[in-house]
Amino acid sequence: MSPENYASTAQRIALEHSPIEGHEISVFSADIGLVLRQLSGEESHSDLEANWQSLFSSPTGQIATEADGGLFAGGDANHVSETGEDDTREDDTGEDENGEDCESDGEIVELGLGSKFLVGHRLDSVGDSPLEFWPGNTALNQMNVGVVGDLGTGKTQLLKTLISELRRTTRETQGTPISFLIFDYKNDYSDQAFLDDVGGVVVSPSSIPLNVFALAGPYTRASAFKRAQAFTDVLGKIYAGIGPIQRNNLVETIMDLFQAKGGDSPLMHEVLSGYRQRVGAADSVVGVLNKFVLPEVFVEDASALQPFNDFLGDKVLVINLSELGGDSHTQNALVILMLDLYYEYMLSREKWPFVGEDPQIRKLNSFLLVDEATNIMQFEFPVLEKLLLQGRQYGLGVILASQYLSHFKVGSTNYGEILRSWFVHKVPHVTDAQLRMLSMPGATAANAARISSLNNHEAFYSSLNVEGEFIRGLPYFELGR
Ligand SMILES: Nc1ncnc2c1ncn2[C@@H]1O[C@H](COP(=O)(O)OP(=O)(O)O)[C@@H](O)[C@H]1O
Ligand SMILES: [Mg+2]
Repeated sequence: MSPENYASTAQRIALEHSPIEGHEISVFSADIGLVLRQLSGEESHSDLEANWQSLFSSPTGQIATEADGGLFAGGDANHVSETGEDDTREDDTGEDENGEDCESDGEIVELGLGSKFLVGHRLDSVGDSPLEFWPGNTALNQMNVGVVGDLGTGKTQLLKTLISELRRTTRETQGTPISFLIFDYKNDYSDQAFLDDVGGVVVSPSSIPLNVFALAGPYTRASAFKRAQAFTDVLGKIYAGIGPIQRNNLVETIMDLFQAKGGDSPLMHEVLSGYRQRVGAADSVVGVLNKFVLPEVFVEDASALQPFNDFLGDKVLVINLSELGGDSHTQNALVILMLDLYYEYMLSREKWPFVGEDPQIRKLNSFLLVDEATNIMQFEFPVLEKLLLQGRQYGLGVILASQYLSHFKVGSTNYGEILRSWFVHKVPHVTDAQLRMLSMPGATAANAARISSLNNHEAFYSSLNVEGEFIRGLPYFELGR
């Protein structure tokens, strides 16, 4: 490429991205000399980067954004912190109270408007009326999403769009894309074209290189006890026939193994043989542990184990639960055991400082997706609620999809309350009270009535600055990827 072509390419990029109307050319021309010198090797990369950043900053040093012309111009304070969660905004921003650090460290240029993308078009509009989802904007107080609809109404197609677009927009604005953990009950996310598009890897429930007894920190009796109890609780809630005596035996077996191994975590097959020795007979716990040990769901070779952080990396990891052959108990137990590890992973994520004001932009770290989520919501495990409540502090969002609205309120847990954005496809018998209870405060009786007669891919969409609009969602097969 000739220097002229470099110059015109650089100028086009600068013009496309510069938000300051009328300033583009002067801002650009001040720096083009440097760009050209860099291309000919005269300037260091960091000099170029520093100057490149200045292309995107206003003369006052304010953050360069497209907010004024953007679809969601301006933040909406009404949407901030209404979930009842401890809203530790100071905690989120770390030491950066006035945003200056962020402006000088290059985050501005990288982030731009953060993750923001098209999800569909208004149904009731005369012209083309696109609507977006903007998880990169902190005015959306958390990134959790609920997707509802009868079989075949377009949930999975929309979810694939969300995955693909979250990956693309974070790659473009953050450098590296966010990680994604997907629990796939119906083998919907394993086709090669989709995996190639999103950077996905399918994990079979066989020789998974994780240890569910791994401790987040150093061994103490208290931390081992907590882990042993959590594991026992998962089995006890999901499988029938595990009584208090068996639970106690299982906890003691795990604790003894921790001690016998000098604080190292035991493996599943060691827990099974330890339990057999202790009890002296095959009971229901042996039967349940065998469901993991006989098919070697988790790897038995300790040297093959990976920390969860390495296992997930920055990939889209699809856990193919359908390979467990319809054993829904073991599918659900596997999901919850892995969610415990994912929760520890979340706690180790960097809390990126927010950048700028109006809009204030956040960096994302990871998303969890559970399609057919009623499978795990039904048990009210605390880990799911903790991920939903605490996720935003760590740049993490949770997407839960299920067939009915009633799936989102289980016993005393209202998961719907902690999902700020919603796509409600066709479902029978919806009431406006139901919608309002699930954090769609603007929903009316007319909205509820219409939901039961929507066509496939049409949905009632609610999110930042979209207080309930009927849209035709963008199915993945129309993204052209
Ligand atoms: N490649 C495609 N081209 C056209 N239609 C498709 C394609 N893939 C899926 N669909 C249609 O999209 C609709 C919604 O499917 P899906 O998202 O799997 O529904 P749900 O997850 O709600 O059960 C189905 O009617 C299906 O026929
Ligand atoms: Mg589906």
